[in-house]
This record gives sequence, C-alpha cells and structure tokens, in this order.
Amino acid sequence: MRFPAFSLLPVLVSIASALTGYDVNDIIRERCCPGDDCYPSQEQLAALNTQMEGRLLLPAMDEYRNQSHMYNTLEQRFPNLIAMVKSAKDIQAVVKFAHAHNLHVTVRSSGHDYMGRSTWEGSFLINLSEMNEMEIDLNSSRSQYGTVKVQTGLQWQEIYQKLNAVSRVVVGGSAHTVTPGGYTLGGGHSPVSRSLGYAVDNLLEVQIVFADGSIATCTESRTVIKTYDGNFQYVENGDLFWALRGGGHSFGVVVYFLFRLHPMPKGMVTFASTIAIDIPAFGINYFNATMLLLRDLIVTMPTQWGGYWMINNGPGTFPVGESVIQYRGLLSLYFNKFGAWDGTEKAVFKSFTDWATAANVPFTFANKSDFWDFEKDAADPPITRAYLANSLLQPELLTEEFVSFMHSGLFLTSEYLACTGATLGGKTTNEPSGGTPLHPGYRSTITSLSCGIVLNDADKDLLDQPNKDQERIEGFWPFAEGLRKYGRGMYVNEAWKDNPYWREDFWGSNYDRLLSVKLRFDPKNFFTCHHCVGSEHLPGPKDGTSVAARMAAPWLLVVLVMGLIR
Ligand SMILES: Cc1cc2nc3c(=O)[nH]c(=O)nc-3n(C[C@H](O)[C@H](O)[C@H](O)COP(=O)(O)OP(=O)(O)OC[C@H]3O[C@@H](n4cnc5c(N)ncnc54)[C@H](O)[C@@H]3O)c2cc1C
Ligand SMILES: *[C@@H]1O[C@H](CO)[C@@H](O)[C@H](O)[C@H]1NC(C)=O
Ligand SMILES: *[C@@H]1O[C@H](CO)[C@@H](O)[C@H](O)[C@H]1NC(C)=O
Ligand SMILES: *[C@@H]1O[C@H](CO)[C@@H](O)[C@H](O)[C@H]1NC(C)=O
Ligand SMILES: *[C@@H]1O[C@H](CO)[C@@H](O)[C@H](O)[C@H]1NC(C)=O
Ligand SMILES: *[C@@H]1O[C@H](CO)[C@@H](O)[C@H](O)[C@H]1NC(C)=O
Repeated sequence: MRFPAFSLLPVLVSIASALTGYDVNDIIRERCCPGDDCYPSQEQLAALNTQMEGRLLLPAMDEYRNQSHMYNTLEQRFPNLIAMVKSAKDIQAVVKFAHAHNLHVTVRSSGHDYMGRSTWEGSFLINLSEMNEMEIDLNSSRSQYGTVKVQTGLQWQEIYQKLNAVSRVVVGGSAHTVTPGGYTLGGGHSPVSRSLGYAVDNLLEVQIVFADGSIATCTESRTVIKTYDGNFQYVENGDLFWALRGGGHSFGVVVYFLFRLHPMPKGMVTFASTIAIDIPAFGINYFNATMLLLRDLIVTMPTQWGGYWMINNGPGTFPVGESVIQYRGLLSLYFNKFGAWDGTEKAVFKSFTDWATAANVPFTFANKSDFWDFEKDAADPPITRAYLANSLLQPELLTEEFVSFMHSGLFLTSEYLACTGATLGGKTTNEPSGGTPLHPGYRSTITSLSCGIVLNDADKDLLDQPNKDQERIEGFWPFAEGLRKYGRGMYVNEAWKDNPYWREDFWGSNYDRLLSVKLRFDPKNFFTCHHCVGSEHLPGPKDGTSVAARMAAPWLLVVLVMGLIR
C-alpha cells in the first residue's frame, strides 16, 4: 500500500485514546450493567412493562431471539433489555426509568448504522420500529407544497409510496428499508439531493425526549420543553434544532421529524451504464479514463440530475461469441433527473456517451412516470459484513493523483473493495435558513464516496482465525486515511469507524458549539454512541477539568507527531 507514514496510525489512535483518558467505553463503564447490584430488579422491570403501551423484551424471549439483527453483522451485539415502544409516552417512561437506574441506553430505528451506534452489549435498547405514524398536511402554512410528519420507525419506502399517492416528494434515503431516524440526524443524502438539498435542509421541526423524560418540540426559532410532570419551559432560540440537523445522534430519542414537501415532477428520467474496467484479454483498462470523465460529468451536470456511481474490483466474465472473457472491476452509473423528458438529456451525457460508443460500452435512458416509479427499483443490498471509509470528495482535489490513488486501492490489492458515490452539489451547496452543524465540506462536495471491504461471514473461518477481521480492518486503514485527502469532511452516517479525526471531519469548527448545546440539553452526557457528540468524554459534575482542555491536549500531540513523521 502507499502512504507508508500512516502505518503509524494504529499507534497514534491508541496514544490519543490513552491520553484523552475517556472514550465511549468509559462512559458505558460508568453505567449500571447487568449483574451489578444497582441493576433494576425483576419487579421494577415488570412495573415498567405494565406502565407501557408497548412491551419489554428479555433475552430469553422468542421475540428477542428473532430480532436484534444489525444490518452490518460486523456490529452485531446483544442488548440485555429491549423496549418495544409504541408512543412518545412510552419513550418518556422508558428513558426516565433508564436514567433513574443509570442504564446504558441505545436507540434503534432500523439498525442500518454501519458502525453499530444503534446497539451495544448489555444495553437497554429502545426499538422504535413500532413508532410508525405519518401525517401529511397539504395545506400547511409552513411550506407551499405541504409538510409530512414521520415517526422514526417508518421505512422510506412506505413514506415515499404514501406521498406518491398525493403527488408529493420528500428528501429521503435511496435504500427502501432505511428509516428517517439516524439518517436525518446525520444529514441525509438522497437521489434527489442535487435538486432539493439534504434531508436536514428540508427539516422544519423535531420532537425529542431527553434523559429526564421531558419532551422538546423544536424549530428554527424556538424550543418548547414539556417536563415529565407536564410543565412547560420555553427556550427562545434555535440551538437545539440547529444541532439536531447533522449532529443529533446523542441528544435524546427523536419521536418525529416534520419535513417540507415538494411537488411531484411530471416524470423522471434515468441514465444507466455498466462498464467492465480491466479486460486483460483485450489489453484494456478503462479506469483512468472513466474516472476523469465522471468527474467532469458531475461538475457540469444540471442541478436536476443526481444519483449514484459505483465501482468495485471484483472479478467477472462476459461472453463474446464462443469465448468467455474475464474482467476485473465494474463501474456502474445510475443517474436520475428530477423532472420529465424535455430533449436536453442526451447533451448532458454527450462526452460520456461519445466515449462509451467508441468503446462499445452500452448505456440506456429511460422514462419514469413519477418518483416511486423511479425509486421502486432501488433494491436494498443484502445484509452485509462491511467496514467503511468515506470522504466528501471535492472537485479541485480530484486530480490524476486521486485517480492513481483509487487505481492502486482497487487494482493493486487482493482485498475486495466496493465503493458507492452519492452525487452531490446542486442545491446541497445552499446552507438552509438557521444553518446546520455539518462540516462545510458537505456544501462543496460533488460526491460522498463510501468504500468498504466485505469481511468473511463464514463461521468456520471466524472460529479458526478470530483475529482475521481485525487484521484486514487495520490493513484497510491506510486506504481510509488516504481517501480523506481527496475530500473535506466525512459523512457522519457512512463513516470510517476508527477515524481519529472524527470530530473535525464530521463537524469542523462547529464541534465546540455542538458539544455545548448537547451538554445544555443532556447535562449528564446520558446519551452516547461511538463517535457521537460528547462520546470522547463528559464533563461529570464531579470532575473539575475543563472538557476543552482534556480534549485538546492529545489531539495537539497527534498533530505534532503527524507533522514530525512527514
Ligand atoms: C443499505 C443502506 C443504504 C443506505 N442508503 C443511504 C442513503 O441513500 N442516503 C443516506 O444518507 N444514507 C444512507 N445509508 C446510511 C444511513 O443513513 C445510516 O445507515 C443511518 O444510520 C440509518 O439510520 P437508521 O435510523 O435507519 O438506522 P439505525 O441503525 O436504527 O440508527 C442509526 C443511528 O441513529 C440513532 N437513531 C435512530 N433513530 C433515532 C431516534 N429516533 N432518535 C435518536 N437517535 C436515533 C441510532 O441510535 C444510531 O446512532 C444507507 C445505509 C444502508 C445500510
Ligand atoms: C421466531 O422465528 C421462528 C422461526 O422463524 C418462528 O417460527 C416463530 O414464530 C418466531 N417467533 C416470534 C415470537 O416471532
Ligand atoms: C426491532 O424491531 C424490528 C421490527 O419488529 C425488528 O426487525 C428488529 O430486529 C428489532 N430489533 C431489536 C433489537 O429488537
Ligand atoms: C387550508 O387552510 C386555510 C387556513 O390556513 C383554511 O381556511 C382552508 O379551509 C384550508 N383548506 C383545506 C382544504 O383544508
Ligand atoms: C421519453 O418520453 C418522451 C416523450 O414524452 C420521448 O420523446 C422520449 O424518446 C422518451 N425517452 C426514452 C428514453 O424512452
Ligand atoms: C492508470 O493510472 C495508473 C496510476 O497513475 C497507472 O499506473 C496506470 O498505468 C494507468 N493505466 C492506464 C491504462 O493508463
């Protein structure tokens, strides 16, 4: 691999966490765990269960055993209690109970989080999948084309279909089974983001339950908090709303999001092409040429067009006459226009299709009648065992050096690597009214590129070589570290799990304000997850050291050491 200096990365990561003194694991160790004397008794749990409209699940129950699957099996963990909540009241009761007993709470809407933020060993998991109410208001004074209020157990496919029936579109994920929960709290990109912005740019209101069981309804201009006992408090600024628009995984449990709706276009158009990259029998490697064509295409593409490009380095074959030709690597383009056919389509792709025609590579345009007609084909990939890297690619950094970096990452390794790029730009470049805490790179990127290695799922293999996953993961770190250089910022929801620069990459200089808002609304740092706001440590009231000082020192050291080795 290239970037030999970064082989020191594991050392730096451990020095940093040793010096920081705390990370999410230390926060969790301070919680009351199963087996501890402070853990709630069966009677106390039974009383909570009776109080709920939903129900509690214990590990011995069938329903528990049938569930808890994480989408990314690398992050499979086993909570000790699951609360299947059915209402905001249930969430309040469960959170208040967990807070009173100092339990480690995890929150899950779909379990798609790649780095497993929605579960933990021994935790009290709040499962929101039965929170699936949806309210469409086409006559809202808050937005010309109406609004939709969604609870976070709803999958995007259900939301899209119901909105399609009333000719409206909302900015949501491309995968059918992702839910608005974590997706929105981390920003949320969509096949129509270049036309309509990120999900958080379309967010108008959020309702969230805090650690003490109080419930807040917040908008850009104010926050209204109703305490568990029913008293009201008003906070007349939009700090909380701002923070939840991209930094919100560790503030509380969201009950619903309210989004702005958009009118359905008269139709949509798709453009697709699949290219075998390395074909030794023909002495052809299309990688370098296609990467630069792709960059130029995205930079010049009209705002109405968006979508995805994917590249992997897997082997394959295709027939030519009687013979079977071997290739390595596939590049797939899936672009979509948020608008009906108007005759401008072919010109948009001309440089690409000229190249494709000369290279004998097929491509297709297709008409779609509405949003769901387009979106219904976006099949979810199967459950996976993946470890990701991500970068918010910046056009000026996508030079030949980038092409060469990707070329070696894909074709000079034996590791299977698959990347998905969500094309951004267009309307995502506009910061919405009120702002967001997201890294400024979210506003200048042309593609959020997520690349992952797929680890072996065979039990036999795992038992024989328990450390093999970890070796391969660490072997991938130089690539993850290298990819960062061609972007600015990293997508919170599809991030590199061991990124030592996570605060800087997710939120840049907004982090300090985010942490102070988080500690205002969650003063005991009760809610926590891996690489979430506040997970590096907490200011316990018992602890006099300034949070900023504790956090700054080790990172300064890392910066100094990195400087020395370069
Ligand atoms: C197949 C697949 C396709 C994807 N496609 C897209 C895409 O098109 N666009 C995109 O932007 N991202 C996409 N993602 C990434 C996606 O945004 C993340 O996986 C995200 O974590 C999903 O949120 P979730 O609520 O569905 O998942 P979960 O795993 O349930 O939750 C993720 C995080 O949010 C927290 N959380 C969930 N609900 C709540 C709540 N109500 N209150 C407080 N915290 C909550 C969890 O604790 C966890 O930290 C995709 C992921 C996968 C696996
Ligand atoms: C659990 O799954 C098994 C097998 O798929 C099924 O037979 C059983 O009914 C399920 N139990 C519950 C409680 O869902
Ligand atoms: C949460 O509920 C959903 C739907 O019932 C289920 O698919 C998922 O596995 C559950 N997760 C946990 C941890 O209980
Ligand atoms: C829309 O809202 C206005 C007031 O905001 C009201 O007068 C009108 O009746 C509403 N229309 C419908 C169809 O609900
Ligand atoms: C899409 O429909 C328009 C007519 O509305 C037609 O002119 C055009 O050829 C169609 N495009 C494709 C790729 O079928
Ligand atoms: C593509 O670029 C890489 C790195 O710059 C180079 O090693 C390789 O020879 C190039 N391949 C082709 C086909 O030009």
